[in-house]
Amino acid sequence: MNNRARRILCVDDEDFNLDLLEALLKPHGYETYTALNGKEALDVLAAQSVDLVLLDINMPVMNGHEVCRRIKADPQLCHVPVIMITSLDSKENKMKGMESGAEEFLSKPYDQAELLLRIGNILRTAEYADAFEYLILALARAAEANDIDTGNHILRVGEYSALVARELGQSERFIETIRNQATLHDVGKVHIPSHILKKPGRLTAGEMEEMKQHTTFGAMIIGDHPHLQFGRRIALCHHERWDGTGYPKGLKGEEIPLEARITAICDCYDALRNSRVYKPNYDHDGACRIITEGDDRMKPQHFDPAVMAAFKKLAPEFDALYGKMLDNGETDTK
Ligand SMILES: [Fe+2]
Repeated sequence: MNNRARRILCVDDEDFNLDLLEALLKPHGYETYTALNGKEALDVLAAQSVDLVLLDINMPVMNGHEVCRRIKADPQLCHVPVIMITSLDSKENKMKGMESGAEEFLSKPYDQAELLLRIGNILRTAEYADAFEYLILALARAAEANDIDTGNHILRVGEYSALVARELGQSERFIETIRNQATLHDVGKVHIPSHILKKPGRLTAGEMEEMKQHTTFGAMIIGDHPHLQFGRRIALCHHERWDGTGYPKGLKGEEIPLEARITAICDCYDALRNSRVYKPNYDHDGACRIITEGDDRMKPQHFDPAVMAAFKKLAPEFDALYGKMLDNGETDTK
């Protein structure tokens, strides 16, 4: 979010209530949009980026609970906070609202000062979450300084990982966290000398040992903050292999955290597609063949079979994402 006015979508089936809300919000610098029912609200959200939704519950066409459920199930919209305003101050309504994922509730008639306060609080929280995600990316970017894996590699790995997590039936929270924090997988490379990172040809055994330390360095840099444990486990374990032949600990099977098993295959796919100094790049079919059939270094048994099955199913989407998120000035070599 930047310095633009915050946009609030007000949804109510009575014009009078919408007028009231607009009269309250506009003088406080908010930009307002209105919708008279749930369907109209979803149309506005599809056309316009909005920072907060004020949602009435009882409306024709589509009620507030249904709108909220749809917002929270949509990966593009689930970040948008929802305040439900209900004239029915019943426990049942509140429970239903909580089930549909609303962040806040207010009963009609609401206190205007309280509504403004709650809106301010909720928007501030959303901005902190936004800044937190941004800083994670900034940290991941900082680690690219000496590396050849620059450009959109880290962003693509995040997007592929989110795709696989969704295919594996993980929660929206898991999907969003892996999308953001898988970008940190190689953050520990900031401690690896650039003559190793950029060396053309294969590394010596000694150089390889040094290179392997980027996993433990990554975990060390990310540290113990509870909100970053996803990224920490990915940084530490994304070179572990399902058959136990990986590093740094030689973990096996489900000893390896799922988020790291997912990121591993996504990192390999993108590394194969990307041209690096020490190896040629492959087209989509070539990269898929190496992952699913193996070559002199990579073997299919390195990957979790469930993650591999998801990868095979999603392969065309990986290809599409790669094409869509090419680094600036690069062209797809396919
Ligand atoms: Fe790595």
